[in-house]
Amino acid sequence: MTSILILNGPNLNLLGTRQPEVYGTTTLADIEALCVDTGRALGVNISCQQSNHEGALIDAIHAARGLHDGIILNAGAFTHTSVALMDAISSAQLPVVELHLSNIHAREAFRHKSYIAPVAVGQICGFGAAGYALAIRALLGHLQAKT
Ligand code: DQA
Repeated sequence: MTSILILNGPNLNLLGTRQPEVYGTTTLADIEALCVDTGRALGVNISCQQSNHEGALIDAIHAARGLHDGIILNAGAFTHTSVALMDAISSAQLPVVELHLSNIHAREAFRHKSYIAPVAVGQICGFGAAGYALAIRALLGHLQAKT
């Protein structure tokens, strides 16, 4: 069975109460349940992880090799700063879909730069929690097109 890792980065554990005017009121637990439900409907195994630490996210990307077929990554603020995460994705040889709840291109200029985008299959942003379900479908379509 196809397996997808949903990997969330810093401060996303606070979803629901964190700047609800930007990120909505859906909690991370709600999002993870939405992902599992979407996976069940599509016949895909879904695993979810979250960390506030850059190194732990890098370790999770390395560990995904051989365990999962692809990754949906919301790297939070590390998106805009982390060459190390970019290198981890390049090294893992797994397809990654970049995900953001907010439309990073409509926000502050520093959020327009993504170190993930050049090494991702594609980017979904601006659709709130629903973006995760879109990302699962997009990644599955990408994986199926390759087989
Ligand atoms: C975010 C956008 C980032 O710019 C921000 O630092 C986050 C969340 C999003 O999901 O919209 O932490 O990745």
